[in-house]
Amino acid sequence: MPVIIAPSMISADWWNVAPQVEDLESAGCAWLHFDAMDAHFVPNFTLGPMFLKAVRPHTKLHFDAHLMMSNAGDYVDEFLDAGANSISIHVEANAHLHRVLDAIKSGGAMAGVVINPATPTNVLDAILPDVDFVLVMSVNPGFGGQKFLPLCIPKIADLKRQRDELGLNFLIQVDGGVSLQTAPQVVSAGADCLVIGSALFRKDISLTQSVYEVRDSYNEPRASATGSI
Ligand code: DX5
Ligand code: ZN
Repeated sequence: MPVIIAPSMISADWWNVAPQVEDLESAGCAWLHFDAMDAHFVPNFTLGPMFLKAVRPHTKLHFDAHLMMSNAGDYVDEFLDAGANSISIHVEANAHLHRVLDAIKSGGAMAGVVINPATPTNVLDAILPDVDFVLVMSVNPGFGGQKFLPLCIPKIADLKRQRDELGLNFLIQVDGGVSLQTAPQVVSAGADCLVIGSALFRKDISLTQSVYEVRDSYNEPRASATGSI
């Protein structure tokens, strides 16, 4: 399966969202990643469900909501109503992980768990059979444009190994500092989905060209890889 590229919309030019979404779609990005930050769990405020709702009627792309929120469970329904196709929640912020994941799946979306850079993969042991994807953070969440933390690489490889050993089929997503330099490393470690913000929305080349350069970096054919699931 081709690697899914999930552009992180906090790095988009918000004055020009529509043409960018069209370009990303035609370049074969099957997912759009929406960062919801609550200024409590992380030190920043960003996109809420209203933003997803505004974009939803204009594209068929998969909407992936990453909830960096202390009370994510209270807002799952709002993100589902806004059209999220997948929702991920942090293990560090959710005491009732299983209950919230259940609510996400009951609403018809894919359910994901997120681990921060300092969180080991073994906290997921009990929940792995119940998740559709695991998001491995490769920066401390809160801002786009941060430096990639290589400590995420062994965690990606470990999750891939566990998936094989246990016969599970969750996707492995990586988010933070993914670039032309770091994408090949995370893909060879086992990432199935790359969230990319600042390294994708560049000023010097078109978005389409930028997507193609990312695919080139890990030697995937440019146009044949639609990255859909
Ligand atoms: C970080 C967010 C990321 C961020 C990635 O807290 O969850 O999705 O937008 O941006 P880059 O690719 O610039 O690190
Ligand atoms: Zn994110």
